[in-house]
Amino acid sequence: MIEILNPTELARARETGALVGGFLRTLRDRATVGTNLLDIDRWTRDLIADAGAQSCYVDYAPSFGRGPFGHYVCTAVNDAVLHGRPYDYTLADGDLLTLDLAVSLDGIAADSAVSFVVGDPGPEAAESHALIEATERALAAGIAAAGPGARIGDLSHAIGSVLGAAGYPINTEFGGHGIGSTMHQDPHVSNTGRPGRGYRLRPGLLLALEPWVMTDTDELVVDADGWTLRSATGCRTAHSEHTIAVTDDGAEILTLPR
Ligand code: MF3
Ligand code: CO
Repeated sequence: MIEILNPTELARARETGALVGGFLRTLRDRATVGTNLLDIDRWTRDLIADAGAQSCYVDYAPSFGRGPFGHYVCTAVNDAVLHGRPYDYTLADGDLLTLDLAVSLDGIAADSAVSFVVGDPGPEAAESHALIEATERALAAGIAAAGPGARIGDLSHAIGSVLGAAGYPINTEFGGHGIGSTMHQDPHVSNTGRPGRGYRLRPGLLLALEPWVMTDTDELVVDADGWTLRSATGCRTAHSEHTIAVTDDGAEILTLPR
């Protein structure tokens, strides 16, 4: 089912989005060399509780994971890219960290992810920067394509064109999605596609757009934890995500801090 939000629900979505954007800013500022991924998870749990919001992750048990996720934020380091389950690991200089967070407030969810390098960037600085920059530019292109009358294929095409031109192979198993009263909804938004195809955007539709890439492969492997998806070759990866609202005259990014 595809949900279209009414103006009251859209106002709530703006609140949830700002909350998620603010949480990610806080977590990003705190995460540094010496931070344990389990610290980030606890900080997230406390931020959510203090705001009176709910985690979309802790009890989530979809077919693509093993049992409930059991944590509050996805933490993916270097070759880990999606659904990174926090574990006892201490961040080191040059680690490329992705934080992916979805919470619900007053019945509306928002979802966002950010990738960045901690500490001294080291020998893999150029590779990390290129990966992150490609996903950020692809995300911006997808958002820019979400104008009035656009179809999902236009967004997918915009995202995929940037990732492809940057030289990255594109995996089509996981992509963006509708979001609203629940985190994962139709329509699916592939990170590559043909323009002019698919569902036509309508004002009140919320979409989570999430380009992600791996340096030299489009193949994923599942970690022994049953959740974390890593690059099959062990190469570095990056992921950027915003929740946007389709409006009468374009798209509004909801997951920015205020
Ligand atoms: N927020 C992720 C996405 O971008 C989904 C994470 S599901 C979890 O769609 F259970 F791993 F947290
Ligand atoms: Co998402």
